[in-house]
Amino acid sequence: MKPHGGVLVNRLDETVSLDGIQVEIELDAIALSDLELIGNGAYSPLTGFLKQEDYESVVEKMRLSNGAVWSIPITLPVTEEKVAQLTIGSRVKLVSNGNVYGVLTVEDIYTPDKEIEAIRVYQTNDREHPGVNKLFTRPNVYVGGSVVQVRRVQKTSFEEYYLDPSETRATFEKLGWKRVVGFQTRNPVHRAHEYIQKAALEVVDGLFLNPLVGETKSDDIPAQVRMDSYRVLLDNYYPKDRVFLAVFPAAMRYAGPREAIFHAIVRKNYGCTHFIVGRDHAGVGNYYGTYDAQKIFSNFTPEELDIQPLFFEHSFYCTKCEGMASSKTCPHDSESHVILSGTKVRELLRNGELPPSTFSRQEVVEVLIRGMVEEVK
Ligand code: ADX
Repeated sequence: MKPHGGVLVNRLDETVSLDGIQVEIELDAIALSDLELIGNGAYSPLTGFLKQEDYESVVEKMRLSNGAVWSIPITLPVTEEKVAQLTIGSRVKLVSNGNVYGVLTVEDIYTPDKEIEAIRVYQTNDREHPGVNKLFTRPNVYVGGSVVQVRRVQKTSFEEYYLDPSETRATFEKLGWKRVVGFQTRNPVHRAHEYIQKAALEVVDGLFLNPLVGETKSDDIPAQVRMDSYRVLLDNYYPKDRVFLAVFPAAMRYAGPREAIFHAIVRKNYGCTHFIVGRDHAGVGNYYGTYDAQKIFSNFTPEELDIQPLFFEHSFYCTKCEGMASSKTCPHDSESHVILSGTKVRELLRNGELPPSTFSRQEVVEVLIRGMVEEVK
């Protein structure tokens, strides 16, 4: 399985000398996670933060300027005061909390049109959209240029689940998996998720459960709680040698269709041959149509994506079928279908009520409740 662009990028070099580099750029949580993912090759073929030509091409055409498919702009926003300290060709330290994590060669400095970025990438400029809100909260000038990651970000929890693409690739090879399906999630795995994962598992060799653990909006369930819920589910309901769990440290953009393309390409870099796209993938609120994140794949040829998307209908438990189903397999009306929104589930949990076992495995619900109690403490 070739990485996107043919070569797995490696921009990690902890031996780089920082001598003579004066200027520092402070990274926010998104930029720090982007640096890590450029560093370890998860964002191959990117070798740095986008320069203007690539940025405009990604925003307008979902492609880098060389034509390679890329749907989400990976940018480094800085303030105008900071720009005054920068010169083209110079090197700067990329810093977070007093630690230097990277060195950037300043190759481009430009002011983006964020209204256009919002409309093209998120299909809305509504500041209520969490991704759009983030876009406008970040500083207004972008710096482009190649980076070297000079220090690993220290992990404080579930450290063993942070793996580089080179490591997941080696793992899949060791397991003898030729057909690997990637699964993106920012939620606990409920029965519908389990159903589509297992439907995929019937036709491939292994499932790469790859929950996103970078920055998410404040009402999403914290990563630590989710990790506990994945563990308990895998231990009880999945064959051990058919699933591999590792985290995806990126920030969530909530860009729906565009993010589905991005998620698929990145999972290709981790070594997947297939990628699951279900209902309203990476969506939020009512900004995207239920299957827009599937339809967007038809803009690209199978060769240029080189990862096979597996599309799934909205799935649910049907009380008449007495099993998980979708409109493709169930003839009954919606009264027989157990469908709960994330908001509804959180409301139930907050009121001390349990979502039904037809919606979520009881072991998972118990972890979520314990997590909420911890949060309140
Ligand atoms: S996401 O923002 O990370 O995409 P989530 O964790 O809810 O959100 O979804 C993970 C994957 O499961 C996505 O591909 C999504 O489309 C799919 N999915 C979630 N719920 C359902 C469902 N009820 N039926 C079918 N697919 C679903």
